[in-house]
Parts: sequence; structure tokens; C-alpha cells
Amino acid sequence: PRSIWLSRHGESQYNETGQIGGDAELSANGEMYSRKLPKMVRDSVGDDRPLTVWTSTLKRTISTAKHLPKEYNQLQWKALDELDAGVCDGLTYAEIEEQYPEDFKARDDDKYNYRYRGGESYRDVVIRLEPIIMELERSEDILIITHQAVLRCIYAYFMKKSQEDSPWMAVPLHTLIKLTPRAYGTEEQRYKANI
Ligand code: F6P
Repeated sequence: PRSIWLSRHGESQYNETGQIGGDAELSANGEMYSRKLPKMVRDSVGDDRPLTVWTSTLKRTISTAKHLPKEYNQLQWKALDELDAGVCDGLTYAEIEEQYPEDFKARDDDKYNYRYRGGESYRDVVIRLEPIIMELERSEDILIITHQAVLRCIYAYFMKKSQEDSPWMAVPLHTLIKLTPRAYGTEEQRYKANI
């Protein structure tokens, strides 16, 4: 592909309260990001050609895409949904530490391989992303709006980092990332929304 554009969803109500997982709507800040995103994308593309937008099936990514131009086809992928936190879905990290201290420690010891009870690990996410990566490799002009853990894995792949390092990739909110594969490596540009 020529370039790939990546973004997390705008801030959600769960991000505000520090809860993980769930299917919350955008916060006021997240809503503001969804309104700023169309211009950020157009400026970064450099011309008027439409991108194809891939979101997860969760409300916060679909809402983040809602102000993009009508010409942008949109596709929802279950494989882009956030890492499933199983029994910890909806909890804050402090609550996890309190209710599941052994799990909290196990995750801290090996974040890549730790699988939430009834949920997923980063390793699991990397595997379910394989079809997405294959499709991406042969597509052009794709904008992906997804979630922190998923975005880290996609980012690590294109930046040719070891997948074991994906849990620590920095992918802040309200930031559009443009990746352009080149012969010598992947070129990266980041555009931070003013929110
Ligand atoms: O807090 C936002 C979030 O996307 C959670 O839904 C998810 O569990 C978490 O980030 C993933 O980040 P980490 O692997 O660092 O806990």
C-alpha cells in the first residue's frame, strides 16, 4: 500500500472513568475529535481522493468515523474490536488489582502472553489480526479507526518491531498516524488534534 492511516477512537466515557473494555459512547472530547478528524485526514492525504475506513464493531470507533465524507466507504470488522478483557471488562486497573491480584501481577510479569480470564492476550489479538494485515497489505488508501491494544499490534507490524513489544507501543488518543512503507523502512508522521 502507498500509505496507511491509523487512529484510536476519540476519548470514550470509559476512558474518562478509567474503565477498560465495554462499548461506551464518546465523551465530549471524543466527540470533538470526531469533528476534527475529517480535516486532519484530508490535510494528511494531500488531495481529495477518498479513503476507505475500517472500524471495529464498537460504538466508539463507528462514532469517531461519523463525520468523515460520504465518499469514504466504511467497513466494520469484528477482528478490530478491542482486546477482550473477559471477567475484567468494565473494571478499572485499581479494581482489577484489588479483585484479581494474581492476574494483575501475572499481566505485569508477561503482558504479551497474559490472557484475561474468559478473554484474550496480546498474542491472541496478533493472531486474529492476520486476515486484517493480509487484506491491508494488498489494499490502498485505508484509514483504520480502532482501539489501543489492536492499534499497537498493527503499528508494531508495520514498524517491523517484534510483536512481543506491541503492548508498550505509544499510541495516544486524538492522534492520526500516517505510515508509508519505503524500501529502507516505514516512514511515520503523526498529527495531534488540538483538543
Ligand atoms: O483503556 C483503554 C483500553 O483500550 C482498554 O479497553 C484496553 O483493555 C486497554 O486500553 C489496553 O491497554 P493495556 O493493554 O495497556 O491495558
